[in-house]
Formats: sequence, structure tokens, C-alpha cells
Amino acid sequence: MVIVHVSAECYPMAKAGGLGDVVGALPKYQNKMDDHSMVVMPMYKTKFLEQNEWEVHFKGNTNLGDWFFDYTIIKLKNESLGFPLYLVDINGLLDRPKIYGYTDDHDRFIGFQIAVVNWLTHWAEQPSIVHCHDHQAGLIPFMMKHCYDYQKLQNVKTVLTIHNAQYHGSMGWDKSILIPRWDLWKKGLLEWDNCINPLATAIKCADKVTTVSNTYMHQLKLQSNGLESLFEIEWAKCVGILNGIDNELWNPATDPMIPYHYDVKLVMEGKKKNKEIICTRYHLDVKKPLIVFIGRLVHEKAADVLPGAIQHALDKTNCGANFLIIGAGDTATESALQYLVQLYPGNYNTFIGYDEKTGHEAYAAADFLLMPSRVEPCGLNQMYSLRYGTIPMVRDTGGLHDTVVDMGELDGFGIRFLHATENDIVYSIERAISVFKDKTQMKKMIEYCMQIDHSWESVVNDYKKVYQSI
Ligand code: GLC
Repeated sequence: MVIVHVSAECYPMAKAGGLGDVVGALPKYQNKMDDHSMVVMPMYKTKFLEQNEWEVHFKGNTNLGDWFFDYTIIKLKNESLGFPLYLVDINGLLDRPKIYGYTDDHDRFIGFQIAVVNWLTHWAEQPSIVHCHDHQAGLIPFMMKHCYDYQKLQNVKTVLTIHNAQYHGSMGWDKSILIPRWDLWKKGLLEWDNCINPLATAIKCADKVTTVSNTYMHQLKLQSNGLESLFEIEWAKCVGILNGIDNELWNPATDPMIPYHYDVKLVMEGKKKNKEIICTRYHLDVKKPLIVFIGRLVHEKAADVLPGAIQHALDKTNCGANFLIIGAGDTATESALQYLVQLYPGNYNTFIGYDEKTGHEAYAAADFLLMPSRVEPCGLNQMYSLRYGTIPMVRDTGGLHDTVVDMGELDGFGIRFLHATENDIVYSIERAISVFKDKTQMKKMIEYCMQIDHSWESVVNDYKKVYQSI
């Protein structure tokens, strides 16, 4: 099968969150299974763009409303990613340093999608599947089926994968003129709540809709920022497929980003050495359990609850644990988290920002990873943490429910709590502190965690079944 993934993010070219990780890994493992899978994404001005060599693959022109533009599809010259990576260069529209956050983002992503579909019409042979990720690629199934210029693609099958249903990319009807001539009878497919809603459009028009865990799939019928009834209607074509992780990139035995390598046999010594380095760097107490939070400091991740919960836990336990917070996001949360540094020197620190290396080092060093997310479609961090022998402490929602079993249950290996509240988090921290004291139990849990398999190999089959079904 020839599979074309269309996405706004793909690691290592550009990543803002888990979407980038998934789109950077899934095609690589699909290619190992004798499919021909590739990625097409916007050409942003990133480091990866500058540091690599590209060849011009195709040159075309089309229009966005009354703006006629030229676009170029460039292709990564080397094969290092395990899949062909194509970038769409549209002068002035996409070639900017950031992925999102510009006032004309709607125009940028409509322009991107138009160029992709236009390019596909020039292919000698059609792809088997066009696999769209999130709302930035959400108009493509509609365009392929109902825009007159793309009739050649009408029968090509499309799949939508939802990585986060909180964001729909909604826009006003004034933007409808940007979509290439379309069958006006199909207006209803673009519409949701009096707006053009690309995520809703994709749910209606794609041949199959997947999301990144089974529990989240069911939760979408109850909570999806206004699309609940749409999921009810389209339920028959919806399926939850838990993400995998790239076990080659995330391997504590070979990871070039961590100071000391270890496998399951050497985990206790390996983690200890990595922990010493991190504790020295961030002035933390190596004898206490190290609990880290890694992620965007936003409401969805319940980062706003962290300052209160950590302060409460440190006071209540007489500084029984160490905390390291890594991430960036809402300024109020950033300042509240930074404020704690002076209150608890030696037991608490932050790294406001994100870089891959610090992330990897923290997984290797930490004893526990805290994820109190209000919404978590899948969550990759808890799976990375399992692989690095770091015990996950998670709120019971979405993919976190599907990947972490509480240590109080049969074969349990983590800590799971019900609510993203201070009380639940503090209680979980107390549980973490007490299990940390039991060295035998800790070792058993860590070794168990490391052997859980979340590799892409098995997941790829589930996607294959979805493709075959259409
Ligand atoms: C989004 C979700 C996250 C998921 C990731 C990859 O970032 O918030 O839960 O793991 O996409 O699918």
C-alpha cells in the first residue's frame, strides 16, 4: 500500500507535541512491514531544514482565493528517517520559524492542504490511502471528494487520526472562498455550529476515523469540545488505536542523549548515576525520590494545579520528595512554578522551556513521572517513562487509563488517581514516597515497567486493518 501522511508536525523536522513524535515514527514502522509510507508537511524554517540537504521534487501552482501562488515540494535527500519526507514550500505563507501561533494560521493551513491535494492530482499513480492528522489536515478528505479540481482523487480512501479533539481549527464562513471550487450542495459537510470546522468536516468525510487510545475514543462521545453528538452519529467508522513509541529512539541502553546507559539488568545502578547528575545540576537531594513533570504548562495537562499541589505535598511530608518541572506554557503557571524555587531550595527546581536532551535525561534520572492531565488522548510521556524504568503517576483518563495499572491492582506497576486536584495529587505523592522507601518493591516495579512493550510493531498492524477495511 502507498500511504501518504499529511500533518502539521513530524519529528525531527518540527515538533510541538506528541503529534510530531507519532508522525515521525508510524511511517518508519509501516515501511518495515513492506508498505510504502511517507510524510508531507509544511516547510517551516527550522534547524532541521537548514542542517539537511533537500532536492526539488515537484513544482506547481494553484490559488488560495484570489491569490495565485507557486509552491515547491522538496524531499529530504538522505534516507535516515526510514520514510520519505516531503515539505511544501509556499513563499511567505509557510516558511516561518514557528509551527503555529500566527494570526493567519487558517490561511496558512488551507494553503498547505490545497498545495498537497494539487500535488497529489499530478501523481502518475494514485496513493492507496491519504492519512490526515488533526484539524490542520482536516479539509483534505472534503477537498478530495467535493472540489471539482480534484475529481481524479475522488475514490482515494482517506483516514483521519485525531490526536487532540480540543482543537478544531474553526473559522468563519468568510474563509469559504479560500477552498477551491466545491459542490455547494455539500455545504453541510463543512459546517458545525455556524462555522467551518475542519475537524468536524474530517470526521464526516474521512472513510475511517481513529484516535490514539480506546478510552479516549469513548470519552469523545462525552467530551470533545462540542463534537459529542457528531461522534455518536459517526460512531460506526470510529476506532481507537493506542500509539506506540519509537523504541530505537527511546532506548536507555543506547540513547545518545543520556550520560549513563542501562538496560533492565543494570537499571538500578544506571538510574542512580543519571539521577546524581541531574540532582547536582538542579541542586536536588539525591537520597529523596525524584518526581518529574515533563510537558506543556497548560490547562489540559493540569499544570495550573501543580504549584499548589507540590507546595502542599512538600509541607505535609516535610520535604519528603524532590521535584523537577520541565516545560513551558501559560505565563501565570510558569511564574507560580518558578516562585517555589526560592521556597524549597534543595528540593524543588524548574527548567522553563523544553529541549529533547533535557527530557531524555530526566526520564533516565527520575524515580517517578507525574501526569495529572485533565485531557490525555494517549500520552507518550508515560510510555517513555516506563521504558526508562520511571514509575508513572497518572490521572485516570484517556490513554493514561489504557497504559498504567495502579500498584494496588493485580500486576500493577504505577500510581493512578481519579481527579486532577491538589488532594489527589498530594495523596499520590505520599504513596510514591512510601513505596520509594521499600527498595525491594521499587526494584520489582521498575523492572516490570521496563519490560512492558509499547513498540510500534504491533500497532502498525492495527492501522493496516483499518486501511484494509476501506
Ligand atoms: C497529542 C495528545 C497526546 C497524544 C499525542 C500523540 O499531543 O495530547 O495525548 O499522545 O497527541 O498522539
